Amino acid sequence: MLELRNITKKFDGKLILDEINLKIGNGEIVSMLGPSGSGKTTLLNIILGITPMDSGCIIFNDVDISKVSMKDRGFNIVFQDYALFPNLNAYKNIVYGLKNKPDLVTPKELEELIDFLELKPHLYKKIHELSGGQKQRVALARTLATKPKILLLDEPLSALDGVIKETIKGKIKAITKQYKLTTIIVTHDPEEALTMADKVLIIDKGKISQYGSPKEVVHQPKNKFVEEFILRQLKIKRDNIYNLFGENYV
Ligand SMILES: Nc1ncnc2c1ncn2[C@@H]1O[C@H](COP(=O)(O)OP(=O)(O)OP(=O)(O)O)[C@@H](O)[C@H]1O
Ligand SMILES: [Mg+2]
Repeated sequence: MLELRNITKKFDGKLILDEINLKIGNGEIVSMLGPSGSGKTTLLNIILGITPMDSGCIIFNDVDISKVSMKDRGFNIVFQDYALFPNLNAYKNIVYGLKNKPDLVTPKELEELIDFLELKPHLYKKIHELSGGQKQRVALARTLATKPKILLLDEPLSALDGVIKETIKGKIKAITKQYKLTTIIVTHDPEEALTMADKVLIIDKGKISQYGSPKEVVHQPKNKFVEEFILRQLKIKRDNIYNLFGENYV
């Protein structure tokens, strides 16, 4: 279990995260939704260990990891802009994190991962020769190859649309369920948040507006912000959500 206790963060004296309290069970997928600038990326970076928090603590499987380095936490992230190395080909990007750590993923597991993400035909292409969806899959493979204890995804689907978006969404869901990988996925698409995750975390101006199952968020929005942000963006009446998501989600 990952537990965040009273996490607070200021940038230049401005409160960015305000007393964030949260528990995520092992193997759960949590989607994080919120307006631009609400603190989503900052929260992921704090969990990852690259941004220090001002106060609060992070407990992972009963151990306080607040002061543990990013490397020793063993979590990993797919960044909002993929952050691939342009001078390396796709394959070298994927195995980059494995340098001097060949124990992280076996050659067989790596091959399976590359197959599953349908990257075999693209391995020796340079990054600028890849499409958005291919870059996204390379970034995902690079992160998964390090066998993270927690997978953090910052808007991994935002640059994609149509069929490729659906395919990658399906793959992320399949991988996280197969490996029972605790996952936090930031999205600005309410439909994506409601259909991909076990729990939805809605954040507004650095505070948690609501944290609950997709069903709870849809049926019992805790406040006006949740109601407007989720339901208005879905552009459908609450009664119709049943038809959209089916029994599993409402
Ligand atoms: N390194 C930094 N220095 C100063 N301010 C920062 C820094 N990083 C983020 N901020 C500020 O913190 C706030 C939250 O930023 P953050 O990137 O976490 O938002 P976000 O919810 O991820 O937004 P988006 O949906 O646009 O990605 C913003 O006001 C941003 O300007
Ligand atoms: Mg962000």
